[in-house]
Amino acid sequence: MSGDNTGLTEAWGQVYINGRLIPADEAAVSAFDRGFLYGDGVYETLRVYAGKPFMLDAHLRRMAHGCSVVGLAPPETKEIEEGVRLVLEANGLTDAYLRITVTRGATGRLWSDMALSKPTLLVIAKPLVPRDFGKGLRLVVSRYRTDERSPLSGVKQTGILPKILARAEAQRMGADDALFLDTRGFVAEATSSNVFWVRDGKLVTPSLACGILAGITRQVVMEIAHEQGVGVVEGEFALGELRTADEMFLTSSTWEIAPVRSLDDMEFPEAPGPVTKGLLELYRHRTPA
Ligand code: PDD
Repeated sequence: MSGDNTGLTEAWGQVYINGRLIPADEAAVSAFDRGFLYGDGVYETLRVYAGKPFMLDAHLRRMAHGCSVVGLAPPETKEIEEGVRLVLEANGLTDAYLRITVTRGATGRLWSDMALSKPTLLVIAKPLVPRDFGKGLRLVVSRYRTDERSPLSGVKQTGILPKILARAEAQRMGADDALFLDTRGFVAEATSSNVFWVRDGKLVTPSLACGILAGITRQVVMEIAHEQGVGVVEGEFALGELRTADEMFLTSSTWEIAPVRSLDDMEFPEAPGPVTKGLLELYRHRTPA
């Protein structure tokens, strides 16, 4: 293959599509794939440590839940695990970014007819160079909102245009990422991560009722906090609540725990603060070495 696809194999090596390993340059799905036409699919992003995808079972459970919400028959867990194994092995990956995507596949029918297409399964992975967040990320509050009333709000669906545009807009403003509020104005999440802050020695985080993704890193961080006897308060919080925060951080599979240094005009000058640093250390103890 030539043209715009050149370099894909250099970046992504071999990828797994529907039972086959092929070089990334040659990887293609039908032009009628509903993932392409309508964003009709779900995905998971994981981090691989020492050749092992961290919290794979939890990611596959979340994906199965997402599939059931959107009425998509997911591939067998065994097939997904095999795809993951083959991709990591073929590319000799130890520390990697891994993405599993399932779409509703290609059909000859129109968008409204969801019946009976064969899902497309794509697994891709590439080396992950850990990002150094230094003194923390700069965030701005986005114009885009999370709709906590939508049945899809907690589903990791492939159509993420609002997030792409919100991140780009934040970067044009000189920030690193954007924070979404829900439609009521409560703090929800960032474009690709969950949000925590520290107040009076306790962790505070938006509850799932704010329409956020039930982040797997969020869950691990809350477990670590419980083990350490650190209180965790989940709830619905107005933006102004963050003014009283001592520290703020984001969580995601790829970023782990990323300190935040500012949100609009709010500054967290000590970032990364002591609670953030302590949690990151304990989080890293949990990941395969
Ligand atoms: N993003 N919220 C959103 C909107 C996300 O997209 C993600 C993950 C998270 C954190 O979830 P987890 O801890 O399970 O990774 C929260 C991934 C990393 C991505 O978009 O690639």
